[in-house]
Amino acid sequence: MKRDLLSAFDMKDDLEQIIDLSINLKKRRYDYEPVLARHILGMIFEKQSTRTRVSLETAIEQLGGHAIYLNPNDMQVGRGETVADTARVLSGFVDFISYRAYSSENVAELARNASVPVINALDNKEHPVQIVADFMTMKEKFGKLKGLKLAYVGDGNNMANSLIAGASILGVDVSVGAPHGHKPDSSIVQRANELAKKNGSKVEILDDPMEAAENADAVYTDVWVSMGEEAEKKEKERQFSGFQVNDSLMSKAKKSAIFMHCLPAHRGLEVSASVIDGPRSIVFQQAENRLHTAKAILLTLHKSMHTHS
Ligand code: CP
Ligand code: NVA
Repeated sequence: MKRDLLSAFDMKDDLEQIIDLSINLKKRRYDYEPVLARHILGMIFEKQSTRTRVSLETAIEQLGGHAIYLNPNDMQVGRGETVADTARVLSGFVDFISYRAYSSENVAELARNASVPVINALDNKEHPVQIVADFMTMKEKFGKLKGLKLAYVGDGNNMANSLIAGASILGVDVSVGAPHGHKPDSSIVQRANELAKKNGSKVEILDDPMEAAENADAVYTDVWVSMGEEAEKKEKERQFSGFQVNDSLMSKAKKSAIFMHCLPAHRGLEVSASVIDGPRSIVFQQAENRLHTAKAILLTLHKSMHTHS
């Protein structure tokens, strides 16, 4: 059965399994069987990308397949061909489609009309592939996930939404410190609350970044101005001025706490250089883990195509 990865909640039954597979794949970087030989990944990017593009492309190549980078400006979709028709056409050529889009509705529309697995490579609402690498990195660092506390400080954006969803699946406590008007998506928080209850953890949405960071095992932040929000730059930088992750904020977390960021980062805005370039930062391990998790995601979605349910 075809399986898509549009939201972190789409991994509610096997997120930790995907993480464990990623850890395993990391040990066998070049000696994994080319199980995706002759398989093609079509990658549509409406926005810029370094990590997502290169990790997905490298992942499929190392598994024996090939990737085609698709810029919508060069495609007929850029001249008005519908997303639905694009999905049907691409499904006749490729085995997976990844899509980085402005609108989560477009990602859902593509998935509905594609007969091959669709991977959300970031939209305005979620960034599900990133959080697999994030929780993998936490598991590598702490040897477990259940019972840990993740503090997310800053914009209640796509990253915050997917982290909240992922934490609730994994039994990780999550505290978000975000300013008024920039809280995470309420329907995601509601669903995460239900899942967290089942999995023995909690979701807290707070106004105070210091309170959110208290006793955390990991402190996470993301840009204040996401792609597509450039016009709000001045206003957002003003609203988020008290939300920088710096040494004073890190001192609220556990002594053993790590600093995380999906990257790209802006030193002096959402994070001080002393923190991101300091000894507690594991941001480049997170970035590398995008490769291993990309492989695990491709393998998991591929497997679903050959399983009936
Ligand atoms: N973290 C992340 O998704 O980075 P890119 O925008 O470079 O893909
Ligand atoms: N929130 C950021 C994440 C970038 C990986 C954005 O959407 O631009």
